[in-house]
Amino acid sequence: MSDILRYHAEQLFAHELEELKKQDQEKRPHNWLLSPQSVVTYLIGGKLKNGFEVTPKYIGSRRLMEISVATLATDRALLLYGLPGTAKSWVSEHLAAGISGDSTMIIQGTAGTSEESIRYGWNYARLLAEGPSKNALVETPVMRAMQDGKLVRIEELTRIGADVQDTLITILSEKTLPIPELNSEIQATKGFNVIATANNRDKGVNELSSALKRRFNTVILPMPDSMEEEIDIVRRRVESFEKIMDLPAEKPALEEIRRIVTIFRELRNGVTLDGKTKLKSPGATLSTAEAISVVNSGLALAAYFGDGTLKAADLAAGIIGAVVKDPVQDKLVWQEYLETVVKTRDEWKDVYRACRDLV
Ligand SMILES: Nc1ncnc2c1ncn2[C@@H]1O[C@H](COP(=O)(O)OP(=O)(O)OP(=O)(O)O)[C@@H](O)[C@H]1O
Ligand SMILES: [Mg+2]
Repeated sequence: MSDILRYHAEQLFAHELEELKKQDQEKRPHNWLLSPQSVVTYLIGGKLKNGFEVTPKYIGSRRLMEISVATLATDRALLLYGLPGTAKSWVSEHLAAGISGDSTMIIQGTAGTSEESIRYGWNYARLLAEGPSKNALVETPVMRAMQDGKLVRIEELTRIGADVQDTLITILSEKTLPIPELNSEIQATKGFNVIATANNRDKGVNELSSALKRRFNTVILPMPDSMEEEIDIVRRRVESFEKIMDLPAEKPALEEIRRIVTIFRELRNGVTLDGKTKLKSPGATLSTAEAISVVNSGLALAAYFGDGTLKAADLAAGIIGAVVKDPVQDKLVWQEYLETVVKTRDEWKDVYRACRDLV
């Protein structure tokens, strides 16, 4: 068990789900592991009546989580929409874990996703030997979720071709999956629903048809509101990464995380925190997820090639890598920021030096 690189949410937080289930006094929708109220507690965190502490998974608006959970209790599916790195996949995984106790029914949407990977496929050896039969059918996660009354997750829905996306219309409106070859169908069991994610930055996406759009409630996940919220997200995620990776490094000082988050927020918003200096923004989305990665790779550098404490020099390469995605435009933006902002801050001299040496 301990060799697994990444556990599913329901494995990692099994004890929390167990405790929430025990303490749950509210009504549960059919086939739900927890009541909607408890699912929100699982997502947002909180203290149970018996003092048990539930850790927050999503840091941000409670209302957004309530809307998401309530949607999944209706006949409409849920679309989590937003910029890259705003925790859409993360929330989708935890919603599936909290509601169905199973986040593994997942389809990764790509330009190559076919109808067969949404509806069902055929095991051709069997099909040839036995003819069309239930045994020759290859079940997809959607089909299994319909049978078991669970949630199915579709990642990056808008990357799937529009014609293939529309396969979902019958599934979502009639709650049935026809199998004409067998002259039969799969009728969804209560508890079945779909959580899709899509980001609004990608090029070459396929907009949902209005028929499909009408079957989804869209919840937009925003970038973290405040600086403190963003620091909190980075700190928590970095701590759990450290545990998993077993790094021989000290916990990163909150000060380092604050600096990274400051740089990211200033460049993202195109203005310094004090509102005095206008800045150019780079083309890349500087999401919280990127800030988490920068600190994580900094920690690995510090652990293996430094003295075990995170320093500006360990972070510099990561910061530049995140900001400068385009070698010409972004580089200018970064250099300007370095010279007009970083250089002028007395307590940032180490960052300035470390970054200047790398440009
Ligand atoms: N508000 C938040 N609360 C908790 N974690 C967050 C938050 N925002 C970002 N994260 C963290 O950011 C990381 C990346 O999130 P995730 O992969 O879910 O992004 P995404 O929105 O699916 O991005 P993409 O569009 O690129 O797929 C996760 O590890 C998640 O923990
Ligand atoms: Mg994602």
